[in-house]
Amino acid sequence: MLCVGIEGTAHTFGVGIVTESAVLANESDSYSGVGIHPREAADHHAEVAGAVLRKALEKAHIPITDVDLISFSQGPGLGPCLRIAATCARTLSLRLEKPIMGVNHCVAHIEVGKWTTDAEDPVTLYVSGGNTQIIAYAGKRYRVFGETLDIGIGNMQDIFGREVGLGFPCYREIDDMVRNGTYIPGLPYTVKGNDFSFSGLLTQAIKMTAEYTVQDVTKSLMEHAYAMVVEATERAMAHTEKKELLLTGGVAAAPRLQEMCSIMCEERGASFYVPPRSLCRDNGAMIAYEGLLEYQHGMRMDFDETVVRQKWRTDEVEVTWL
Ligand code: FE2
Repeated sequence: MLCVGIEGTAHTFGVGIVTESAVLANESDSYSGVGIHPREAADHHAEVAGAVLRKALEKAHIPITDVDLISFSQGPGLGPCLRIAATCARTLSLRLEKPIMGVNHCVAHIEVGKWTTDAEDPVTLYVSGGNTQIIAYAGKRYRVFGETLDIGIGNMQDIFGREVGLGFPCYREIDDMVRNGTYIPGLPYTVKGNDFSFSGLLTQAIKMTAEYTVQDVTKSLMEHAYAMVVEATERAMAHTEKKELLLTGGVAAAPRLQEMCSIMCEERGASFYVPPRSLCRDNGAMIAYEGLLEYQHGMRMDFDETVVRQKWRTDEVEVTWL
């Protein structure tokens, strides 16, 4: 079965093509303004949609008429961006007379991670611009065992980068500074129960740049943020008694975060997995795979159910495929 997946929750417009056993194409184009203006990002997506789809079909060496199923990111995400992805999916579905599936973006991150690593029943640490959640499967749902109370860790990083003049995107500069900087104590460490909060930490770090170098503040900011999420993840692993950690999302590529996760897993005898980078960040292949999985387990979607769901939570999805 061939499934086309369309991702469009935030910065990235992506088109992936998968079968049950392989990713045939995973193309994308990202809006690259400083920060994200939802309408501008949506305009970007509308502009590149045709070209990204064509490129994906070329890479997969298939005519569009061979496609069996259309999947799209139905939520959560920015309304204007979601509506572009949904409109593309509906158009393809009508034109090709093929079924359509709207899938949850966060759940797609987890399932593609399990598909492309040896993880079977992991605790997932999903870290990106808009989302930071600790998720594990229990009783027909992917339950949230900890999450940000305000902004995503990637958003914190981007705002900090913008405020101190690093530009956008700035993850490479940040990774370098984390590697070479000197840790300064004194920033707030805000873990509440098993949730965490980044906005106070961000404000304090920006203030600190008046007194310390950007490099040292960046190092300290990210050490705090990573330690907070890894601490809460470890607690979720102890609570659920799961022995695997899956790290995914756009921030999963951060070397120091990977190192902290790896040390934590080693200390508790757990396995640690990170999917290939192209499948960690927002991408169409994960949307295609999730749609395929759901369709093959008997789920179907009527056209009038394809309305976008901006605030669709991970734990609202009934997992029928496990
Ligand atoms: Fe994402």
